[in-house]
Amino acid sequence: MNGNLKLALQKKGRLTEKSLELLSLCGLDIENYSERLVVSVRNFPLDILFLRDDDIPEYVQDGVADIGIVGENVVYEKQTGTKVLEKLGFGRCSLMFAYPEKNELKKIEDINGKTIATTYPRILNEYLKKNNIKAKVIELSGSVEIAPSLGVADLICDIVSTGNTLMMNKLKKSFKVFESEAVLISAEEKLKDPKLNEILNDLLGRIRSVKTAHSSKYLMMNVPKDSLETILEIIPSLKSPTVLSLAEENMLAVHAVIPSDKFWQIVNDLKSAGASGILLLPIDNLIQ
Ligand code: PRP
Ligand code: ZN
Repeated sequence: MNGNLKLALQKKGRLTEKSLELLSLCGLDIENYSERLVVSVRNFPLDILFLRDDDIPEYVQDGVADIGIVGENVVYEKQTGTKVLEKLGFGRCSLMFAYPEKNELKKIEDINGKTIATTYPRILNEYLKKNNIKAKVIELSGSVEIAPSLGVADLICDIVSTGNTLMMNKLKKSFKVFESEAVLISAEEKLKDPKLNEILNDLLGRIRSVKTAHSSKYLMMNVPKDSLETILEIIPSLKSPTVLSLAEENMLAVHAVIPSDKFWQIVNDLKSAGASGILLLPIDNLIQ
């Protein structure tokens, strides 16, 4: 026990790089992690444990790690009782049925009587029950995508993200069973050890700031003085925007933090209102 908070991350997979990227945006300086089970953070009281993602909920529930980053798909499948502290906004994927390209699957009822290979038997069985479908479920621990070509199953129910795995295995995606993204989990809403809980709250604050920062952009532009009011009406700003005077007398500079996805909706309105030199900059952190 070194008094550090212990965070479990996926050892090797879709979430590994993105999770480390999030931590680094949180200002954490992480040693080279390749092939190591535990890595300490140089400038923050955190140890990172690299584990199989499927094992993370259980390790967190058992206290081997205090918190973990894992897909909601794994959290719901394992039902270990861990709590979701924060949705992280990356690692979005869907649990979907997929079947060999040469076959057809038009309606969900066509799954009746078929054999499905999956690593998510609990979520799948729940879905089949809800849709009143009788099918045989085969639980595999990995490489589900090769089951149809091996003749082990008619179709699979697996995680699809980019779709590359399906494409490489000549499988076509079909109905969606579950949607997922990466989440931060812990055994309890609040950690029992007050010191660890303090570290967790610090980390959570940083994560939230990175999340808002990433969904926001810093907008800068020059506007004619007499269209300032119109411009301010167009900007969905988090706080009141900054208005600065420019050397050119009838012009002003306006700076504002806006939601990233709003920019393209308002850019034409801004231009018609006379805005020029429009700059949109990324934000690393945003503390509110
Ligand atoms: C899933 C799934 C595929 C892959 C699909 O694995 O089993 O292997 O992601 O992604 P793609 O559509 O981008 O090709 P996951 O990373 O969830 O972890 P696993 O190693 O535990 O299967
Ligand atoms: Zn897994």
